[in-house]
Amino acid sequence: ADASVPESHAMNLADTIRAIPDYPKPGITFRDITTLLGDARAFRRAVDELVQPFAGLKIAKIAGIEARGFILGGAVAHQLSAGFIPVRKKGKLPHETVSITYSLEYGTDEIEVHKDAVKRGERVLLVDDLIATGGTAEGAVNLLSGLGAEVVAACFIVDLPDLGGADKIRRLGVPVRTLVSFAGH
Ligand code: PRP
Ligand code: MG
Repeated sequence: ADASVPESHAMNLADTIRAIPDYPKPGITFRDITTLLGDARAFRRAVDELVQPFAGLKIAKIAGIEARGFILGGAVAHQLSAGFIPVRKKGKLPHETVSITYSLEYGTDEIEVHKDAVKRGERVLLVDDLIATGGTAEGAVNLLSGLGAEVVAACFIVDLPDLGGADKIRRLGVPVRTLVSFAGH
């Protein structure tokens, strides 16, 4: 777990995340947060810890990444009294959008936001459940910045540091907060 989480917390968030071996393919350990979400204390703790550094930072909006980032992003937005911006997989938003293609382990995918989702200079916090290669988050940061948002930080429950995603986002000049880190497999 992240060193910033005080030892006095009796519950270890990492223990509430289920590891699924060889999913979605042999050799990959899938970090399944459905067990964290289904545990009332763990879900509350995770949201509390995600927002903790950002209270008082005048965050105007939370951008959550479809799909798992919606679950956390809505809760974080409520707790920070911020608005919510859905960053969606392409083809789901009804109004004018801007989109960006990003690379996955194999191939590419595309996410988009409404053009009027953010005002120029608005302070936005990006939220997702997990950062792996950082391709998804990088795409979201670039989309939001392109609309004039100030992306104040990005936060995730799970970091897979071997894949370098958090460092990739930090190199964009965006601070990254993660709660649980799983190195190796
Ligand atoms: C997962 C996860 C992150 C992303 C991280 O989402 O929820 O959004 O991958 O990977 P990256 O850092 O390598 O880009 P996924 O695209 O599997 O879809 P889901 O959230 O809709 O389940
Ligand atoms: Mg996702």
